[in-house]
Amino acid sequence: MLLLELVFFAVLFPVGDTQDAFQEPISFHITQITSFANSSWVKYQLSGWLGDLQIHDMDSDSGTAIFLKPWSKGNFSNEEMSEVVELFRVYIVAFIRETKAHVNALQMEYPFEIQGIAGCELHSGGAIVSFLQGAFGGLDFVSFKNSTCVPAPEGGSRAQKVCKLLAPYHDIFYTVEKLLYETCPQYLLGVLEAGKADLQRQVKPNAWLSSDSTHERGHLQLVCHVSGFYPKPVWVMWMRGEQELSETQRGDILPNADDTWYLRVTLDVVTAEATGLSCRVKHSSLGGQDIVLYWGHSNPIGWIILAIVSCLIFFLCFALWCFRRLPYEGIL
Ligand SMILES: *[C@@H]1O[C@H](CO)[C@@H](O)[C@H](O)[C@H]1NC(C)=O
Repeated sequence: MLLLELVFFAVLFPVGDTQDAFQEPISFHITQITSFANSSWVKYQLSGWLGDLQIHDMDSDSGTAIFLKPWSKGNFSNEEMSEVVELFRVYIVAFIRETKAHVNALQMEYPFEIQGIAGCELHSGGAIVSFLQGAFGGLDFVSFKNSTCVPAPEGGSRAQKVCKLLAPYHDIFYTVEKLLYETCPQYLLGVLEAGKADLQRQVKPNAWLSSDSTHERGHLQLVCHVSGFYPKPVWVMWMRGEQELSETQRGDILPNADDTWYLRVTLDVVTAEATGLSCRVKHSSLGGQDIVLYWGHSNPIGWIILAIVSCLIFFLCFALWCFRRLPYEGIL
């Protein structure tokens, strides 16, 4: 069945086409964040992600799934989706209960945090690789490989103990395997097709410049803001003429609320040397027409308006001068 899907997919999207469209590899994964403050206070967050885009959330009070996109269900029927959601709901309740029950045996001390990530990734050529990893206190703890629980070195003896505890539960391993190697790949292919228009859209960035003073006297931090672009890959550089300035500092690419991205790229300069610097932006939506913003020149529209206004004032003065001359000349 899976093989059939893969063949179908390969026919629908010739490899080159998919590569351009999705910047492969692209993954679907579920993340779990569980915070244990004390024996009576536990909060969890379960969410579904297609690459960088969140498409599912779970309301932790009611345990119901929230579909954040009209196409979040992919090609799954409502029943298929409800079954998977129910599985996760039962899982998270059991996970919290069992963790609490083993706090002493595993020598864990409140407060602590457990994170998990599980999903599958589509590579160019159509191969799909599944993964599951758990972290304890921000460090790798266990992973799932070849149908077994593998303790991470950072997890120490505690991680080895957890894998030993889990080993007899064949049902759990069977379910995990089915979810990772059957459900996830089927879902991933379906949801990529269902959300194609959204996922392959191209949104042009807006860019603007600002400056901050730095703690060093006579220095200036130039800031190039690039916002509202999609997809995520973007190239932004401070330049002097055609030369890329390697001192350019790039921030993290941050999400905007509308599923586009924002990036801040800065450059520390001596104030007197700031004129003539420019910020250059390359993005797939711009079709090779880079955005270039110059520091120190006001924007070109400003110059055009200034030029037009100057001309108007000149002609107005000239006209007034002519009018004033005429009657006198007539009289004289
Ligand atoms: C458990 O932690 C929560 C959140 O930090 C706190 O509000 C609550 O008072 C704690 N309860 C106990 C019994 O310590």
